[in-house]
Amino acid sequence: MATLIDGKAIARALSNTTAQAVAQMVADGLPTPGLAVVLVGNDPASEVYVGRKISQCAKVGIHSIEHRLAADTAQDDLLALIAALNADATVHGILVQLPLPAQIDAGKVLDAIDPAKDVDGFHPVNVGRLSTGTGGLVPCTPLGCMMLLDTVIDNYRGLDAVVIGKSNIVGKPVAMLLLERECTVTVTHIATQGLPDIVRKADIVVAAAGAPELVKGDWVKPGAVVIDVGITRVNQPDGTTRLVGDCAAHEMDHARAVTPVPGGVGPMTIACLLANTVQAAQS
Ligand code: GUN
Repeated sequence: MATLIDGKAIARALSNTTAQAVAQMVADGLPTPGLAVVLVGNDPASEVYVGRKISQCAKVGIHSIEHRLAADTAQDDLLALIAALNADATVHGILVQLPLPAQIDAGKVLDAIDPAKDVDGFHPVNVGRLSTGTGGLVPCTPLGCMMLLDTVIDNYRGLDAVVIGKSNIVGKPVAMLLLERECTVTVTHIATQGLPDIVRKADIVVAAAGAPELVKGDWVKPGAVVIDVGITRVNQPDGTTRLVGDCAAHEMDHARAVTPVPGGVGPMTIACLLANTVQAAQS
């Protein structure tokens, strides 16, 4: 049987470390780390994510400031809010929940965030720093993936890693992090030809295509480590629904370790956001 990588427990441990760091900062007379969370519109999934981010901040002692803007907010008004948050010394981290409504250019908004407060790691300066291995704030989900991998892999040097998915939020940054550890990294995506055979070579598979159960058991080399970033709600024949990842979870017994869905990568994302906020407040 493959080892299940317990994302909930690993995220809890990381959040405990973050809570201790916050308590130490306050004891040292430093400002309490502050995170501004901006939600434009009322996308139901975004509302859930933002609610979780705010409640987890409270648990570790981070001061959160929520800004909810109407779905028809003008881009200039959002940019004015970002400018005010950049200038506010009590705000150490700024997170603008994506996706944004169609009238707003997400790239322009992300560019406007002070890179030192960009706890999502999406600003071009932080993307550049990640690709040159020169520090900066690292996107939360890829950081969480690496922390999960670290629990089962000591030495990445020369391992074959296959990333499925080329998003700016997960696929590209996780590829950079694996490359930094000296893996041989292949970045694939939904249009990649011969994907099963490419995945079959991998010692590490990071599946982040948002395609439910795309990766079958016979694509996965015995002893590989599988990180499943996908989470999609699918309908069942009996009329109920269930959450599934990008990997066919019941076919992964021969893997060395796998992340469950839910309870694998998901909990790590918020825990890493909190850790990034403390990092931003300390630098
Ligand atoms: N929407 C989906 N994932 C993310 C994320 O990691 N950060 C932000 N800001 N929005 C998202």
